[in-house]
Amino acid sequence: MPIRSILAGCGGYLPERIVTNEELSRTVDTSDAWIQERTGIRQRHFAAKHETTAFMGTAAAAAALADAGATAADVDAIILATSTPDQAFPASALRVQAALGVKQGFGFDLSAACAGFIYALSVADGLIRAGQVRGALVIGSEVYSRILNWQDRGTCVLFGDGAGAVFLRAATAADDDRRGVLSTHIHAQGTLGDILYVDGAVGQPDKPGHLVMHGREVFRHAVTRLAEAVEEALAANGLRHTDIDWLVPHQANSRIIEAMGRKLGLPADRVVVTVDRHANTSAASVPLALAEARGDGRIKPGDLVLLEALGGGLAWGSALVRL
Ligand code: COA
Repeated sequence: MPIRSILAGCGGYLPERIVTNEELSRTVDTSDAWIQERTGIRQRHFAAKHETTAFMGTAAAAAALADAGATAADVDAIILATSTPDQAFPASALRVQAALGVKQGFGFDLSAACAGFIYALSVADGLIRAGQVRGALVIGSEVYSRILNWQDRGTCVLFGDGAGAVFLRAATAADDDRRGVLSTHIHAQGTLGDILYVDGAVGQPDKPGHLVMHGREVFRHAVTRLAEAVEEALAANGLRHTDIDWLVPHQANSRIIEAMGRKLGLPADRVVVTVDRHANTSAASVPLALAEARGDGRIKPGDLVLLEALGGGLAWGSALVRL
C-alpha cells in the first residue's frame, strides 16, 4: 500500500490582547455595525511585541505535537506558512525548530499568503508520500497587525494575528486505511497579483510594506475559485457533497463562508466559523479553526473534513482529510 499521511494532531495560539470593533472605531473611521454587517467580524487578537511569528508558531506546534502524542524526536520537517516572517532569514520555521528542541530534519518558510497553510499541507503530504520524511509539522503563523495601513479602513479592520499547526505522520499498519490526507489541490494565477498585495518588503528601500486590497475583486474571485477547488477535491476522490462532515474554510469574511456552505448544501452547524472572533489571520486561519473544532469535540475521529483557502497571489487550494 502506498504511504499516506495521517493528520495526527492540531494546535493553535492566539495573542492575549483582544481588540473589539468598538475599540478600533475609536481610532479608525469605522463602526461595529459596518464591520459586522460586511464581514461578520466582531473582534480580533493583536500580538504584543514578544508574540512574534516564531513565538506563536512554536506554541501552536507544541500544542499540535501534544495532541498527537508525539515529541520533538518525531519531527523530520517543519514547514511554516507566513507572509510576516520575523526575519528575512533564518526561516521562522528554524526558530521554531530550535525552540521545540528538534535536533534533526529540516524546515523552511512558505509564502502563499492566506492559502499558505493549504500549500504547506500539500508540500508536507507530498514529502511523506515520497517517503522523504515520516513526521512533519505544518504551521501557519501571522502578525498582520504589523503590516496593516491604519489609514485604510477598507483593510485594517479585516485582519488579526495568531498561529495554528498540525502534525502529520506517515500512516502505519495499525491505522485505519480510510484515515489520512486524501488529496490536496493547489493553484495560482500570478496575473492577479495586483488585487491583493503588500507594497514593500525587507529587500526594498524605504518601503515598510503595507497590505493593499481591491476587496470587491478579491471577493468575486474567492467565491468562484473556491467553489471550483471544492468540486475538484470531491471529483478527485469520487465523493459527493453529502459525504463531507465538516467544511473548515479560510476565515476572511462570513459572507464568503456562507456562500461556500450553501454551494455544498451543508447546514451552518457543519461549517466551522471563527472569523467573528479571530478576523482574518491569513495562513493561520484554517489550522486555528481546525484546532478549535477538534479541541471542543465537534470534529471527531473518522470525520471527513474539507479545508479550503484563497489569498494574495492569487493563490488558492483545498485539502480533503479524514481525521
Ligand atoms: N468602515 C466603514 N465604512 C467603510 C469601511 C469601514 N471599515 N471600509 C470601507 N467603507 C466604505 C467605503 O468607503 C465605501 O463607502 P462609499 O460607498 O461612500 O464610497 C463603502 O464602505 C463600500 O466600500 P466597499 O469597499 O465597496 O465595500 P464592500 O461591500 O466591497 O466590502 C469588503 C468591503 C472588504 C468587506 C469586501 O470587499 C470583502 O470582503 N472582500 C473580500 C475580502 C477578502 O476576503 N480578503 C481576503 C482574501 S484572503
